Amino acid sequence: MSFDNKVAIVTGGAQGMGREYVRLLAQQGARVVIADINLDVAQKAVDELGFKDQLLAVRTDVGDLDSCLACVKAAEERFGGVDYLVNNAGLLSAAAFPSLIDIPVEKYRQITEVMLNGQLWMARAAVPAMRKRGGGAIVNVSSIGAYQATGVYSLTKLGVNGLTINLSRELAKDNIRVNAVAPGTVATEGMQPLMSVEDMAKWGQMLGRPTDKVATPDMIAQVGVFLLSDAASYVRGQIIAVDDGQQIRV
Ligand SMILES: NC(=O)c1ccc[n+]([C@@H]2O[C@H](COP(=O)([O-])OP(=O)(O)OC[C@H]3O[C@@H](n4cnc5c(N)ncnc54)[C@H](O)[C@@H]3O)[C@@H](O)[C@H]2O)c1
Repeated sequence: MSFDNKVAIVTGGAQGMGREYVRLLAQQGARVVIADINLDVAQKAVDELGFKDQLLAVRTDVGDLDSCLACVKAAEERFGGVDYLVNNAGLLSAAAFPSLIDIPVEKYRQITEVMLNGQLWMARAAVPAMRKRGGGAIVNVSSIGAYQATGVYSLTKLGVNGLTINLSRELAKDNIRVNAVAPGTVATEGMQPLMSVEDMAKWGQMLGRPTDKVATPDMIAQVGVFLLSDAASYVRGQIIAVDDGQQIRV
């Protein structure tokens, strides 16, 4: 796989799985915009990852369409266009709200704005730039939690699956492929305050995973990067579970 002369935007790319997408794409020649609400951590990733000329950190709030548009403008100004989007930004803290009846309305709005609408806002911002380049690819980050019916987190990820299917149809005429990855349990910075790696191992098994393995971010990002690449040119509108067999669908 080569991403030479290509430009990618990775939302939530400052840490966790997003940072791994940034690293893998840059390693394969892409220039990458780290679109993250936390500019300090995004800049730290630029400084540490070792591809300084290929990376640009842009403070972006995916829950705000104007902020997404500004991010795409920055990508075009610095790197000349946009070919790929990884809609990865998310709020793991949303898992603390298991009841759709009891979650405070403002909280519900804030979470859905980032976790579901944010993926659409970023796509709406990036698609015109992709059209100018003759096409592109989008990977949305869902979760196998989409099917667990455990409140607002689950609901937004099911929405991401719907968004993926809809956009994959709508954007086929523009030569833009849209797919999603649905990770199982992944040891990231965002998960650290929520659950120990040992508990993640037990929890996954309790939910049906046949191993005690907890994913590292690269195990997920490798699959997402494959979906962006030309090697996946005939894969469209798919939600690919990357969960070590935790969820079996036939
Ligand atoms: N870690 C897991 O076990 C797991 C499992 C399945 C799916 N996911 C999903 O994978 C994605 C990444 O998860 P992670 O574990 O790497 O999370 P993380 O918390 O480590 O990183 C999330 C990143 O998103 C950024 N972010 C938050 N709100 C933002 C906003 N409004 N605009 C732009 N950036 C914003 C944060 O600053 C952070 O850099 C999320 O969508 C999450 O729901 C995670």
